[in-house]
Amino acid sequence: MGETAIVKVLADADEAILRTMLTAPARALERGGLVAFPTETVYGLGADAFNGRAVERVFTAKGRPADNPLIVHLAAPHQVDWVASYIPPVAQELMDTFWPGPLTLVLPASKKLPSVVTAGLDSVAVRCPSHLVARVLIAQAGVPLVGPSANLSGRPSPTNAAHVIRDFPQGLDWIVDGGQCSIGIESTVLDVRGAYPTVLREGKISREDLAPWLHSSDEDSSGESHRSPGTRFAHYQPTARVILTSIGGGWDTAHQWLSKVRSVGLVTASDPTVGVRTHRRMHVLGTWDTPDDLAKNLYAYLRQADDMDIEVVVIESVGTTGIGRAVMDRLRRAAGRE
Ligand code: TXA
Ligand code: MG
Repeated sequence: MGETAIVKVLADADEAILRTMLTAPARALERGGLVAFPTETVYGLGADAFNGRAVERVFTAKGRPADNPLIVHLAAPHQVDWVASYIPPVAQELMDTFWPGPLTLVLPASKKLPSVVTAGLDSVAVRCPSHLVARVLIAQAGVPLVGPSANLSGRPSPTNAAHVIRDFPQGLDWIVDGGQCSIGIESTVLDVRGAYPTVLREGKISREDLAPWLHSSDEDSSGESHRSPGTRFAHYQPTARVILTSIGGGWDTAHQWLSKVRSVGLVTASDPTVGVRTHRRMHVLGTWDTPDDLAKNLYAYLRQADDMDIEVVVIESVGTTGIGRAVMDRLRRAAGRE
């Protein structure tokens, strides 16, 4: 397999320039190729959703179990009719409110979609990303694209092009480098086929944001793992062991671990220059001020820990409202408690 080609696009490039720059990757997609592309959440591994052979290549490249369905990405909301057989009124309202953006809707699937996309289910997960590069690429390709996160199965999702290159030094046709993803964790997934929408995966668009559409008694349903195929699989697992502490507890916990393991990483909410007790086997991987900060950088920290061969990563947790809950969901999985 050939080496992956890279095209770097500037964050403020206008649409006409993007169309020109993305011509070659779009042609590769038309021919059944694989192209990694930036979105506002994480990088996706794109292929023509109507080309079953191309979609199979996505599963093979990632090492993804065949029974874990993919999200289909649209250039514009109206393309939803290409992949879904029916749009419930509540779905239309949610699309009008949150698209383009980091919200994925599970809808009844069109019979025209190859079954490999949906892992044989009669539903399809669909989203229209807000990232201009993603939408121009999809529009240029002329077809909706499947787009699982562009990582090897089980690795943290990629939030910059270097992460994608690390997991796929070869085997892809193109990587579109659009810099760092602004959100940093995957989209919220919402099943909108029932009487009330059900949150299958938390994300930047939070339960609070969705409250007008959720049943008033709706609680954290992330335990209902049978509803989202993806939640059955081990996810977001770095090689390093992840330990969660409360805010302010990270330094002490990290120091305790130093006596047990070779190297410890720390992600802390406090300023590490205050009261530092440094140690050559302890590495401050990063600090965060707000839950959005931690969301944006979390996967980079976890990847960095693995690159540095760090054994234990201590992370001071964020709260449990808004995006904080989505971050905690990812952290609990990384800590292997789910
Ligand atoms: O932000 C995102 O959603 C990113 C970017 C690239 O758009 N993509 C992403 O894809 O996170 P992936 O494949 O890593 O996660 C898709 C999730 C999985 O948990 C999968 O099980 C679930 O969506 N899913 C896909 N189709 C589904 C369906 N028909 N019903 C229920 N869950 C579904
Ligand atoms: Mg993924």
